[in-house]
Amino acid sequence: MHIDHQKIYFDQVSAEQIAETYGTPTYVYEERRIRENFRNALRAFKKYYDDFRFFYAIKACNNLAVGNILRQEGAGIDAASVNEILLAKELGLGGEDVMFSGNFLSDDDLRQGLESRVIFNLDDISLLPRLLRFGKPEVLSFRVNPGYGRSNVGEFVTNAGPRAKFGIHPEQVTKAYAMAKEAGISRFGAHMMPGSCVTDPEYFALITELLMDVIGRTGRELDIHFEFIDLGGGLGIPYKPGEEGLNIETAAARIASTFQKKVAEYGLRPPRLMMEPARYFTGDAGFIVGRIHAIKHSYTEILGTDIGMNTLARPAMYDAYHHIYVDGREDEPRRKIGVCGQICENTDYWARDRSLPADSAVGDLVVVDNAGAYGYVMSYQYNGRLRPAEVLVNGKEHTLIRERETFDSLVSNIHVPERLRK
Ligand SMILES: Cc1ncc(COP(=O)(O)O)c(C=O)c1O
Repeated sequence: MHIDHQKIYFDQVSAEQIAETYGTPTYVYEERRIRENFRNALRAFKKYYDDFRFFYAIKACNNLAVGNILRQEGAGIDAASVNEILLAKELGLGGEDVMFSGNFLSDDDLRQGLESRVIFNLDDISLLPRLLRFGKPEVLSFRVNPGYGRSNVGEFVTNAGPRAKFGIHPEQVTKAYAMAKEAGISRFGAHMMPGSCVTDPEYFALITELLMDVIGRTGRELDIHFEFIDLGGGLGIPYKPGEEGLNIETAAARIASTFQKKVAEYGLRPPRLMMEPARYFTGDAGFIVGRIHAIKHSYTEILGTDIGMNTLARPAMYDAYHHIYVDGREDEPRRKIGVCGQICENTDYWARDRSLPADSAVGDLVVVDNAGAYGYVMSYQYNGRLRPAEVLVNGKEHTLIRERETFDSLVSNIHVPERLRK
């Protein structure tokens, strides 16, 4: 996104063009930015360790157009559910190009995951005997909770440590792999995902060390080879203006050096190094275009837009910051104003005391930044509001990649018993 003479553009397409063509609110993704993000990260990691692969965590933005961009760039898919395995299949990816990292899986999940022959990543030791009732996976890993995690978004997305619901305790790891070996499974990997949105490279070195110590001891004790080590996602992006981003070169260098040091220390046959980021690829490549429909001067001044907690859940859910631009007014004097959506909840008053153009007016377009990850996928229909459209921009080209919902989307899967119609 860039601003030229106060007008906002996504690549070469203006926010105005998007609003006129598709209405508001609309999610917009810049294809070039997604490719650039992926390539920069891959270049950095491959430079320090050649046997490296990214699996894109499709939960962050599950539009198949976006998924195909990342597949073209060489990503596999990290799937959180059977339906995400099916999304990967729609991309032409299956088998060992897909990692299944669901948690608290049902028997149906286990059976369908097994049938799709993806890499199985179990979140708990108790899942193994249940999985074995349906058959043996070709490749198995366990999600380890190394006891420590971190996130710039706070505890909400800190996915490891004693308060997290994810992963197995380090003390259970050897037992888990021993059970798998005894069951005749012979190909192994190891996984963790201790936190999301981290911009400190040292964090990545630390978690690599934690996992490698666990795996090193287990590998030695059980005489098993780990074909891959998956460090999860978590590569962070800055959300606030002036916030420092992740130095991907330093992160890659620190991860690779820690990894290689530990491979040598434990005498391991070098595993493939994998990560499964999402936010880093799509987060800053996605935006929401909305409109100001009303301005209220009451206890505070509030811009009422069509972007609410139903369109972008992160602020109400995580108290997350998303920067807001007003099209055509970015050079104007500013004052503190609030921004809300149209939902009947006070958590929908999702930006308070923001420094925004003082003359912002009804009819103006607003653009919400960094909405490409955990944006559309978390939108919902509360208050009868419908999910927005999604548009992909590439140079001057703009393409509708998901239609805006219609009233039919609200009622088409509802069945009213005949007796209630009388
Ligand atoms: C298992 C797993 N892998 C990868 C990711 C992607 O994380 P991020 O967007 O922080 O890179 C997530 C996100 O929650 C996840 O749960």
